[in-house]
Amino acid sequence: MSITDSQDSQRRHDSLFTIRGRTALVTGGSRGIGAMIARGMVFDGAHVVITSRNADTCQATAESINAAAGAAGTTGRCTAVASDLSSVDGVATLVSWLEEHLESIDILVNNAGATWGAPLEHFPVKGWTKVLNTNLVAPFYLTTGLLPLLRNAATPEKPARVINIGSVDALVAPHWENFSYSASKAGLHMMTRQLAKHLAPESITVNAIAPGPILTDMLGHIAADSNAEAQILDRVPLGRYGNADDLTGAVRFLASSAGSYLTGVVIPLDGGLSGCAG
Ligand SMILES: NC(=O)c1ccc[n+]([C@@H]2O[C@H](COP(=O)([O-])OP(=O)(O)OC[C@H]3O[C@@H](n4cnc5c(N)ncnc54)[C@H](OP(=O)(O)O)[C@@H]3O)[C@@H](O)[C@H]2O)c1
Repeated sequence: MSITDSQDSQRRHDSLFTIRGRTALVTGGSRGIGAMIARGMVFDGAHVVITSRNADTCQATAESINAAAGAAGTTGRCTAVASDLSSVDGVATLVSWLEEHLESIDILVNNAGATWGAPLEHFPVKGWTKVLNTNLVAPFYLTTGLLPLLRNAATPEKPARVINIGSVDALVAPHWENFSYSASKAGLHMMTRQLAKHLAPESITVNAIAPGPILTDMLGHIAADSNAEAQILDRVPLGRYGNADDLTGAVRFLASSAGSYLTGVVIPLDGGLSGCAG
C-alpha cells in the first residue's frame, strides 16, 4: 500500500461516523429524545431543523443548542419551525415549509410521539386516534411528502436516511396499560421494513431505533413514583435509563457512512430489556 493509499484509508476511517455538513429534520426536537438527538447532530456539524407544536419551546431549544455549539466551536446549527403533526394537514404544512427553505434532506428522524394510558375496559377512542395519528400516520406522510428532498440528497455511495423512533414496547409486551401506544410502535417497526424495501432502489435507507426507558417528560409521571421507577429499572438488565450519548451514538451510526449498508432493521436500544427477556 502506498503512502497516499494509507492516508486515504485514514481519512475515510476518520470520517466514518461523522454527519458533518449534512442536513437533517428531527420531529419532536424541542425536548426529550428529539432534543438529545438534535443536539448530538449539531455538535457533529450538521444543520438540523427541529419541529414541535409549541413554537416558543422549539425556538428556545434551537437557541440553546446554537449557543452551546457556538461555544464549542462546531460548524453545526439548529433551526426551529413549529408544526402539529397530529393531522395530515399539519404534516403537509411542514412539508411545504421545508420545500421552500431546503434543497435537500440527508436525514429524516421521525421522533415526535404521543402516548396514552387508561384501563383496558375504559380505553377511549381518542386515545387511539391521537396516538396512531402522531406515531404512525404522521411518519408515513412526512416520509412520503419529503421524498423529493430525500431523493435530492441520495446517492448509492451516500444514501439518504430515514430513522424512525419506535419503542421497546413494540418488542416486549409492556407492563403498562398503553394499548394504542405499543400497537402504534409495532406498526412503525413494520412500516420501517416495508418502506426500506420499497425505497432501497432509490438509495434511501429506512431503519428504526427502539429505545427502552429514557428519562423524559413522557416518563416523568413514572419516574416521580419510586415504586414505579424501580419496576421499570428492574426489567432493564443494564439497570439504568438510556441517555443522550446512547441515542446520539445510535443515530450517528445509522446516519453516517458507517451505517450505509443497513436498511429495514429495528435496533433495540434498551439496556438488554428485549434481548435478554425470558
Ligand atoms: N422516553 C422514553 O422512555 C421512550 C421510550 C421509547 C420510545 N420513545 C419514543 O421517543 C419519541 C420521543 O419521546 P420523548 O420521551 O422524548 O417524549 P416527550 O418528552 O414527550 O417529547 C415529545 C416531543 O414530540 C413533540 N410532539 C408531540 N406531539 C407532537 C405533535 N402532534 N406534533 C409535533 N410535535 C409533537 C413534543 O413537543 P410539543 O409538545 O411542543 O409538540 C416534544 O418535542 C417518541 O416517539 C416516543 O414514543 C420514548
